[in-house]
Amino acid sequence: MCGIIGYVGAGEALPILVEGIRLLSYRGYDSAGVAVAHDGRLVVEKDKGRIEDLAPSWDRQKLSGSSGIGHTRWATHGRPSRVNAHPQQDAAGDVVVVHNGVLENDIALREELEAAGVKFVSETDTEVFAHLYARLFRGDPVAAAREILARCHGRFSLVFLHRAQPGTLVAVRRGSPLVAGYASGVGLVASDVRAIAGHADRAVEIEEDEIVIVTRDGVAVHGADGARKDRAAHAVTYDDSSLGKGAFPHWMLKEIHEQPDRLADLVAARIDPVHGRIRLDELGLTDADLAGIERVDLVGCGTASYACMYGARAFEALAGVPARMVPGSEFEARAELLGPRRLVVAVSQSGETADTHAAVEAAKAAGARTVGVLNVRASRIARSVGGFVDIHAGPEICVASTKVYTGMLLSLLLLALRVAQARGRGGAALAALRPALDALPDAVRRAIAGHDHVREVAREVHRAQNMLYIGRGPDHATAVEGAMKMKEISYIHAEGYAAGELKHGPIALVSWDVPTVALLGQGDARTKMLANVREVRARDGLVIAVAGEDDADARKVADMILPVPTVDPWLAPLVHTIPLQLLAYDVARRRGCDIDQPRNLAKSVTVQ
Ligand code: AGP
Repeated sequence: MCGIIGYVGAGEALPILVEGIRLLSYRGYDSAGVAVAHDGRLVVEKDKGRIEDLAPSWDRQKLSGSSGIGHTRWATHGRPSRVNAHPQQDAAGDVVVVHNGVLENDIALREELEAAGVKFVSETDTEVFAHLYARLFRGDPVAAAREILARCHGRFSLVFLHRAQPGTLVAVRRGSPLVAGYASGVGLVASDVRAIAGHADRAVEIEEDEIVIVTRDGVAVHGADGARKDRAAHAVTYDDSSLGKGAFPHWMLKEIHEQPDRLADLVAARIDPVHGRIRLDELGLTDADLAGIERVDLVGCGTASYACMYGARAFEALAGVPARMVPGSEFEARAELLGPRRLVVAVSQSGETADTHAAVEAAKAAGARTVGVLNVRASRIARSVGGFVDIHAGPEICVASTKVYTGMLLSLLLLALRVAQARGRGGAALAALRPALDALPDAVRRAIAGHDHVREVAREVHRAQNMLYIGRGPDHATAVEGAMKMKEISYIHAEGYAAGELKHGPIALVSWDVPTVALLGQGDARTKMLANVREVRARDGLVIAVAGEDDADARKVADMILPVPTVDPWLAPLVHTIPLQLLAYDVARRRGCDIDQPRNLAKSVTVQ
């Protein structure tokens, strides 16, 4: 999604804006731009493309100045192009603005401005803000920003720069995240603290409907009524080490390799070593509340929704509570079916996903209890939900989720066990799982160490145009997620199915050119999976089996093997997903794809 950076200080703004854009680029974008106050004018450079390609051609002399704004755009209103890129300007060049989010009354305001003689040049809703602000500004930026808040509907974070006040950035937040920071003689504003961490000592999280004036002297926060607000600033403690890829060629590979440590941290943080209880201190629900839950809806989008599939199975099997996954965009809050005995669990890496957030709001309005399983504490969904489970995976930069997916699975398993405990039935399950949980990081490490096997498979399948992924039980989610990883970063069309569904339709696609990845699993599931693999082989299909390291039968029935350590069946999906992440990575690399920023995708999807 879009990203915002603004700077005002004594030094040159341009390098800081370009660096900020680069740091925001993990969110996914299709165009980028900057505006700098230079010699009484606002100079704009912008276009579609990557900042690495755009910035070298920008005229540094014309862009010389000590205040400016920058933006990464992910197209919603109008295709990626120079004219639609941000910053947007008014006709006279008095105002520049960058914008994250969507202006909902865009058409009405556009018509009103056109009737007053304004000529629009872009297809964006953002241009409305530039013209409107230019007309509302009479020397008092807070008054103009108040009018913007009063007249505009939707979700928007905005930063304005006016030619008449080149040392003042005016930021407004409604719905999209924004943080303001400062250090001696420097003021900054951004949609993510990452973009300003290298320059700000302290930062203020801007809240809903707040207006912030950013100057070299610091930041001043105002409410929507214009009154000055006293807001505490926190030290900027962003961990710089996570800002680099180190020796890894891509963020995705680095994040895959981080999984053993992240999972070890999560197990250590969540399980009380003395009493063996699960610690979820921010759940906001008592044991009596948890015991009274009659149904659980797990809501998420994309990869998070696949984690929800797994979570629903865990809630039903371990806690004995009926549970289902609902894609965020399909959640319908039927008031008569909701209420305090329904728990809605929102699962999200970014905590900003609009569909998931809307589901939470609807569930709350219908009286349901809500909990967020989230990776970002300072996020929109975190602020909405009644309780919070921190996935604790650290910043995930690659657009394709890896370490957060396994963090989601583990967090949901522990949440299901916590509910089971409150209902007097989780003790035995947790006791049985304890040694397996302790051994999990090492099992994941061994799965990663099997990368050479994955490279061989990648060599075999990287020219495929279609792939199938099949699994049973908890590995149904692994299959769907494995297919998602493949399609989003390699652009191979891949679909995941419950293996039993294969012969009800997808088997018609089976051929040597359509490789099938089969997650064999254990016990009864494995017996049935071996039969499914034979069905594929009988139709000349190429089968790659994710199988236990010692599974001799798998070697007899499959063409290629991705060996994995054998672990408790509830933890198996966390281990089995590793070779599928690596396979997607290796195939995408062989195909020359942009692994960390796949086409058309954004890291956080803040529109419905
Ligand atoms: C993950 O690989 C995807 N890029 C995508 O499906 C993602 O999981 C989805 O957009 C939900 O995002 P969230 O977890 O931030 O809510």
